[in-house]
Amino acid sequence: MLKVLIASCKGGCGKTTLATHLAAHYAVEGKNTVLVDCDRLASSRHWCERRAGLASAVLPIDGTRRNWRERIPSGADCVIVDTPAGASVDDVDGLLDFVDAVLIPVLPSPFDLEACRPFVESIAGLSRIKRGKVVAGLVGNRLRPWTQASQFALEEMRQFALPVIAQLRDTQGYVVATGLGKSLFDYHAEAVRSHQDDWKPLLKWLKKSGA
Ligand SMILES: Nc1ncnc2c1ncn2[C@@H]1O[C@H](COP(=O)(O)OP(=O)(O)O)[C@@H](O)[C@H]1O
Ligand SMILES: [Mg+2]
Repeated sequence: MLKVLIASCKGGCGKTTLATHLAAHYAVEGKNTVLVDCDRLASSRHWCERRAGLASAVLPIDGTRRNWRERIPSGADCVIVDTPAGASVDDVDGLLDFVDAVLIPVLPSPFDLEACRPFVESIAGLSRIKRGKVVAGLVGNRLRPWTQASQFALEEMRQFALPVIAQLRDTQGYVVATGLGKSLFDYHAEAVRSHQDDWKPLLKWLKKSGA
């Protein structure tokens, strides 16, 4: 069973977009996929509800309830855990006995980089991460590769204590698809395919990490 945690100290950096897209990707592949939503705002859960009619539906689990781990069906192939803004390093540490991988989305802005760096350093210093029991990486999100701001942000991110696993571009496709309970993996148009390709290094990394 693949278990991935998406977390950040920052809000609005793309945690739910990342969580719903990873879940959709595995569900479209035919895997039994569960999305645990630890955020009281319940965006991931609402997305699952909007998706309920599709063959590649994703099972939502309320992660704000204490016993959420017991609610995961034994037949699940993938479990994606979405978390609220302002996760502390202790919050993440408390989930490391459960997950195989941690992903931290980062936006290309000085405020985001500044706020995330200490969080990332602390996550990299956690025992299970240092010992390689759990893999952890950064996902550059909402990048506009042709801008200096994005190029600068990527250079900065590469100095962080965790590797940059993927670079997702800024596109309204994410906003439109998630609003419909879908993801870019549910579409096949040429324009969408190039954005699906942005995910390849991340999907490969999760596979290779044995996660
Ligand atoms: N790559 C992207 N391109 C365009 N919009 C994005 C992208 N990633 C996230 N968004 C949008 O940014 C906003 C915040 O993303 P969200 O996933 O809700 O962040 P979080 O869960 O970290 O608060 C949402 O409106 C979402 O649709
Ligand atoms: Mg969210």
